Amino acid sequence: MIRMTLDEGDRVDRLLQADLGFHDANGGHMRHGLHAFAAKFPPQLPAWFIEGLTESGDVVLDPFLGSGTTVVEAIRLHRRAMGIDIDPLAVLMSRVKTFPLDSNRVLDYGTAILDHARSNLCHPERLLQRVAMRFVEEKDRQFVDYWFLPSTVLELEALMEGIEAVDEPDYRQFLLVVFSSIIVTKSGGVSMARDLAHSRPHKVATKVPKSAIDSFHKRILKLASTLTALDSPYEPVIQQGDIRQLDVVENSVDLIVTSPPYANAIDYVRANKFSLVWMGRPLRELAVLRSNYIGSESDKLFEWNMFPDRVRSILSALDVKDHHKAGLLARYFADMRQAMKGMYRALKPGKSAFIVVGTSTMRGLDVETPQSLASIAQDDIGYRLQGVVERSLDRDRRMMPARWGNRLTGIEQRMHTEHVIALAKPQEVER
Ligand SMILES: C[S@@+](CC[C@H](N)C(=O)[O-])C[C@H]1O[C@@H](n2cnc3c(N)ncnc32)[C@H](O)[C@@H]1O
Repeated sequence: MIRMTLDEGDRVDRLLQADLGFHDANGGHMRHGLHAFAAKFPPQLPAWFIEGLTESGDVVLDPFLGSGTTVVEAIRLHRRAMGIDIDPLAVLMSRVKTFPLDSNRVLDYGTAILDHARSNLCHPERLLQRVAMRFVEEKDRQFVDYWFLPSTVLELEALMEGIEAVDEPDYRQFLLVVFSSIIVTKSGGVSMARDLAHSRPHKVATKVPKSAIDSFHKRILKLASTLTALDSPYEPVIQQGDIRQLDVVENSVDLIVTSPPYANAIDYVRANKFSLVWMGRPLRELAVLRSNYIGSESDKLFEWNMFPDRVRSILSALDVKDHHKAGLLARYFADMRQAMKGMYRALKPGKSAFIVVGTSTMRGLDVETPQSLASIAQDDIGYRLQGVVERSLDRDRRMMPARWGNRLTGIEQRMHTEHVIALAKPQEVER
């Protein structure tokens, strides 16, 4: 017989009865607004479970860290926080959000960088030489020339030089995130792209992008004011890594609140490479990394006997319609199974994991992602399923992808809601 600590189970039941939409609530730390990120969840969501289920000093893990929402809230609430993400920009922005930074110092650095950049812009030939040295690979140079106006390239190079000269690492990284935040925005920022944070980039030849110098100036002024202290006794552990090789001490985590990618939905590299390429990450390297993102288009699996019945029947139904897509979905479920296994191992017995995910429609078929993942977690891995509850999405805040092409994509058709899967590692197995 499987037994749970009654306390935790009851508390979870109560927490799941609340309205988990959090549309009206303002809350969380101001640092959440540092940088755009597709499919962030509202800070109130992790805070709700952290406050309801953990004490000061407990360990909270988010293995799909994204923009760091769970980690920032955990720190704000004086928990020990751990976060992992495969995406270098996600890791950078999450780290920066947790640094103890002084607003005046940020403003001083910002002013010095802007002065330096403005005077450098009087020497465009020198800046052009620096650009040639920054983008040694032809493909990177072509990418930058395609997506940025020549005048923007010079401005960005001038800013980057100033940022790279900052010798305090925490401030330098903060300034890199500010730099990135003027490029990777909903409207494509200073690039020629139409909608970067949400969707497949489209170049708009008629777009008149804002000046990078002015945008950086405005962001610095705005973001410096968000740097009120997080004031925690605990330093977070934030690492870049692949959740499928999660390396967290067994039975060490008190709570997981996380949101994995949807099946076949958002391509994070596609947007983030617009700023990562400026930070010395060649496109070639990012393309390799991309193939390891869960939900990416790169890998397929055509064997699904190992999944529970419910999942097998969804895969078979999709296979009849589209063999290729069924392979992608099977790969997604297999990756998520591996991820959930690692999370199970990391959790202390009796403790809970909340996985926030929406479904996708592929070839007109609802692939029931939340229910499928719940079934894999329970039938295959050994979690106890506490419930699967729906939460309504605030489309603007959650920043789901905009329309791709003329057709509504699967994710768009169903993205007014998503689900919270509540799982627990059983306290012990009694025979
Ligand atoms: C929906 S987002 C998380 C958003 C986060 N909850 C927030 O509020 O910002 C999913 C994240 O999963 C990450 N991811 C995708 N594949 C991964 C993998 N194999 N290992 C670790 N993280 C991965 C993506 O980079 C992305 O940041």
